[in-house]
Amino acid sequence: MAPFSRFLMAVALLYPVISVAAGGTRYSGIFSFGDSLTDTGNSLRLPATGSGPSSRPPYGETFFRRPTGRASDGRLVIDFIVDALGVPNPRPYLAAGKTAGDFRRGVNFAVGGATALGPDFFSSRGLKPFVPVSLANQTSWFKNVLQLLGSVHERRRIMARSLFVVGEIGVNDYLVALGNNTAREARTLVPHIVAAVRSVLTVRKLYPHHSNDH
Ligand SMILES: *[C@@H]1O[C@H](CO)[C@@H](O)[C@H](O)[C@H]1NC(C)=O
Ligand SMILES: *[C@@H]1O[C@H](CO)[C@@H](O)[C@H](O)[C@H]1NC(C)=O
Repeated sequence: MAPFSRFLMAVALLYPVISVAAGGTRYSGIFSFGDSLTDTGNSLRLPATGSGPSSRPPYGETFFRRPTGRASDGRLVIDFIVDALGVPNPRPYLAAGKTAGDFRRGVNFAVGGATALGPDFFSSRGLKPFVPVSLANQTSWFKNVLQLLGSVHERRRIMARSLFVVGEIGVNDYLVALGNNTAREARTLVPHIVAAVRSVLTVRKLYPHHSNDH
């Protein structure tokens, strides 16, 4: 999984942070999505990536003094956002429990190596993603969490006080295509990746208000 770190610097410049929470109030927590730039431990929990580089030193040396699954020797941007807002560090979804209490104050769905596009798209191009996680997995995990959080009223209350961090996601899609030296192919991915990210940023899609859902 070394290719990710090689591109880290370039990608950091593109890091998008998008808040869709209602303004005004203080945030109570963070719900985040993305790849290795935001993953604070999910990839450690996946068989495909659990023994990857971020599970070993020098990852984690500088700040946490142990490998945490972050693809960094120190903190990630998400950790600084957490500090600045004074909210709990969102636990990695795959390491969290499975009760409402584990998720009320946010959770991190980001997985190192994750792609914006799903496996079907890649196989239609004869390509194979690095890890079996795409943005669609992360949004379906989010929907599971919403189910756990109780009534529609309660979900709205929690979401209205939460910061959503979506990103970075999409760079691995290009790396998958570029890994086979197909720069032309990578370029043809652009509209698909943009559409996949955009569809998640549409709050209605990510957080539908089912009228029959009480
Ligand atoms: C990589 O490229 C080779 C030759 O250009 C091709 O035969 C192969 O199918 C490609 N593999 C993937 C995963 O795209
Ligand atoms: C992600 O979703 C795909 C199906 O779209 C599934 O095959 C895969 O196992 C999921 N990954 C995880 C880690 O749940």
